[in-house]
Amino acid sequence: MAEYKLLLEHSHDPAFKTLDGYLKTGGYDGLKKAIGMERQAIIDEIKASGLRGRGGAGFPTWIKWNGIAKEKTQTHYLVCNADEGEPGTFKDKQLLETCPFELVEGMTIAGFATQADIGYVYIRGEFVDAAKALRNAIDEAYAKGYLGKNILGSGYDFDLHIHMGAGSYECGEESALMSSLMGERGMPRLKFPHAPLPTVSGLFERPTVINNVETYACAPYILKNGGEWYATLGASTKNSRGTKLFSVSGHVNKPGNYEIEFGTSLMELLEMSGGMKGGKLKACVPGGSSVPIINAEACERAIIGYEEMSEVKSMVGSGGCMFLNEHTCVVSFIWRTAYFYAMESCGKCTPCREGTKWMEQILRRIIMGNGQPGDMDLLMQITQQIDGRSFCGLGDAAAWPVAAALRVFPEEFEYYIKHGKSMVQTAESKAMAPGWQQPVLA
Ligand SMILES: Cc1cc2nc3c(=O)[nH]c(=O)nc-3n(C[C@H](O)[C@H](O)[C@H](O)COP(=O)(O)O)c2cc1C
Ligand code: SF4
Repeated sequence: MAEYKLLLEHSHDPAFKTLDGYLKTGGYDGLKKAIGMERQAIIDEIKASGLRGRGGAGFPTWIKWNGIAKEKTQTHYLVCNADEGEPGTFKDKQLLETCPFELVEGMTIAGFATQADIGYVYIRGEFVDAAKALRNAIDEAYAKGYLGKNILGSGYDFDLHIHMGAGSYECGEESALMSSLMGERGMPRLKFPHAPLPTVSGLFERPTVINNVETYACAPYILKNGGEWYATLGASTKNSRGTKLFSVSGHVNKPGNYEIEFGTSLMELLEMSGGMKGGKLKACVPGGSSVPIINAEACERAIIGYEEMSEVKSMVGSGGCMFLNEHTCVVSFIWRTAYFYAMESCGKCTPCREGTKWMEQILRRIIMGNGQPGDMDLLMQITQQIDGRSFCGLGDAAAWPVAAALRVFPEEFEYYIKHGKSMVQTAESKAMAPGWQQPVLA
């Protein structure tokens, strides 16, 4: 299969960032249709589309929208997660920079369907250009009656604000994001079933829907063309519909964002990205740094779909796809990943706070040539103590890459521990090792 450009079709055109340019391509046709529909009919359309959240977990979008009270008794909020902190993922950045009206229209449709009064876009602090592009789009939308009071004469009022984060990965976790948005420390909160769902009590303890940038950006196309049409995309997969943006990086000739239909194979994605650079394919981390690494043989079998990727023991995740060539030292690569999670752990719960640091330290000593005979078992045990036992998903995200690397590439760890050096020592793997670029953790 080739690329299937839906969200990114006009992303190369600077005019698409302006309201006039957006309208010329059929922009806002979705909202115009939506405001003539019953709110429930909009949610049913999203249900028929099969849209699942693009932020990483793949949760059905319609269930969230449907969970908001139909009888409105208090302020309803809508939040967009534009934190995009997952290493390897940079698709929301491109959507915000080049297609900001898709998000503004998508949030207005979602807001209308859920009776939201106010929307917030929580943007990662470093995304300055993205925030500027979105600011311009929001200002134009207000000026022309697409935001604010009585949108397009529908009687619906909706305000949209931008909030810049301060560059914390944990603030992409939805409850931590909302804490940060409320001016508190960016730490996660208790979740369902121990606390109400955000649709019942979310931002400022009011009913709230939170979705990813790409998720909202799909809504205008679903409303415009119908949920059934959208569901024809990806129909070859079990339960993944539509298109998905993949941020391809690593040892490929043409890194960048590629939009594909679910059901495309991973090898086709590699081909779109210009194929491997500097050596044969060795491994791939298909969905962002937190998803399990797979070897070349699994890459050959991998079909992109939420259920299909689990058949090769990995995940679609947020779509940050890193292809690694034969000269990559997996031990160094995984140490670098572990370092990131140890740095980003918020420290609230013990398994993650202690476990991420411990994993990083053991991997570091292996790479420094001081690995101990029991280190692989110890590492695996720590991953098991973190996985499913942490307060939020960051713990799992930190444990999975290490566990998968030990399972898929045990010989590389064994060699490193036995010989005190990498099986595939190259300038690149050396540059990734501690002490070369990064300060070590205390
Ligand atoms: C540690 C951590 C970081 C996350 N970072 C992001 C992020 O940067 N962007 C995002 O959309 N979702 C992120 N998520 C997932 C969100 O918690 C949430 O599931 C998502 O925003 C829901 O939107 P969706 O249903 O449209 O995918 C993160 C989750 C965890 C546990
Ligand atoms: S899992 Fe990690 S990031 Fe999440 S609450 Fe625990 S310490 Fe904080």
